Amino acid sequence: MSEQIAIVPAPRELVAGDGQWVSTDPAADAVRTVVENLGETEYRIDVTPDGARLSAGSEESLRYAEQTYRQLVDAATPVEDGVAVPAVHIADAPRFGWRGVMLDVARHFLPKEFVLRVIDAIALHRLNVLHLHLTDDQGWRVQIDAFPKLTEVGAWRPETMVGKMSHDQTEFSYDGKRHGGFYTKDDLREIVAYAADRGITVVPEIDLPGHMQAAIAAYPELGNNPDSQLGVRQIWGISDDVLNVNDETVEFVRTVLREVLEIFPSPYIHLGGDECPDVQWRTSEVAQARQAELGLTDAGQLQGWFTEQVAAVLTEDGRRLVGWDEMVETDCPKDAVIMAWRSAQRGEIAVKAGHETVMAPCESVYFDYYQGDPATEPLAIGGNIPLEKVYDFEVIPAGLSAEEEARIVGTQCQIWTEYMEDPERVGYMLLPRLSAFAERAWGSPKASYDEFLTRLRPHLARIEALGLNYRPLD
Ligand code: ACM
Repeated sequence: MSEQIAIVPAPRELVAGDGQWVSTDPAADAVRTVVENLGETEYRIDVTPDGARLSAGSEESLRYAEQTYRQLVDAATPVEDGVAVPAVHIADAPRFGWRGVMLDVARHFLPKEFVLRVIDAIALHRLNVLHLHLTDDQGWRVQIDAFPKLTEVGAWRPETMVGKMSHDQTEFSYDGKRHGGFYTKDDLREIVAYAADRGITVVPEIDLPGHMQAAIAAYPELGNNPDSQLGVRQIWGISDDVLNVNDETVEFVRTVLREVLEIFPSPYIHLGGDECPDVQWRTSEVAQARQAELGLTDAGQLQGWFTEQVAAVLTEDGRRLVGWDEMVETDCPKDAVIMAWRSAQRGEIAVKAGHETVMAPCESVYFDYYQGDPATEPLAIGGNIPLEKVYDFEVIPAGLSAEEEARIVGTQCQIWTEYMEDPERVGYMLLPRLSAFAERAWGSPKASYDEFLTRLRPHLARIEALGLNYRPLD
């Protein structure tokens, strides 16, 4: 593909034609139509000396045609009576239905305006899901009318640990800076509408029954030691403070979820399920009584029971449960969509267990990992995922049957923000790795990494035009 036609992600089929089309305003002068002879996700672009035609099988895919066409028009060169767009035939469709970005707005609250810019970046790359990780131990970010303390108390922490956390660390120093914030329902409705206008679904995550310390700080009766007042967590890592399994807590969560469903029309609702220690359930009298009543042999099995109780609210409303891959081990409903994060192998296990699965393996698409030498990069959580490694990511692990492969519904990259305190840092970690990720999610033909870099260099100006920071190429 020529450097001139620098489309990212690359279309599945692009054939350069003869000549060029001269127009004074190629964006306005192109003909756009939804047609019946293309599949719902397919689009075509044909530029000939007579004009430009964008056709698609649905309004949604016409948006993809538009994104690609705008990049094609970038390659137009000024001529005497307008600009000349190179002749080209493009036939394109995404490989996967779920092409997502997860943004953790819990560890560090990110302003609404920035979330909108991330949506712009998602649209630019023809991705279609923004997964918002709205709650965690370190902050609760969604207004819930029934329980105002979730945001009055749970959205704020007095200070935050400084530097890198290690496994055996017990002493921390703190930055002395209050941190927090939350989105009102109107903010979130604005985000949802802005995304919908761009063909993007916002999937909310309420992470439970672990990662709930901020909620327990707001309402101690949700915890397993209701007489002790916890604070919103100020260090990273996994908290032992998880929800209790009382009937009242189940009811509390159901009420929260009903409000969440009112804000987010998404068919998919994420209920977390990751990293839920059962240490408190093993000693809690209430949890032990519940375990006995249910005939469970292990306290950890209470997680599956709890999730099933609260997920009933989703089912009643015709929504589908999504969870991190730990859910596979907790006897979750077969129709739960699993997000494989601990490894690609966890994705294989999920599809073999019959689950539709989104591949989000930390070794390939965790963009909180380093992307260069830690000695010269800003502090990050660990790992090493340089741009080229993202470009080389294979969404579908080898060795699956065709039926198992078909259960892989897509892929998603993750931005966990423990070590990203502002939009500038998030941009640096997200981009341009997102551009490489988008190639794999879309199913762009793989030529070579150098060929990708050739297209990426001019593409960086488009990222800059969105007002987003990015990591310069090496
Ligand atoms: C996760 O990274 N705990 C899903």
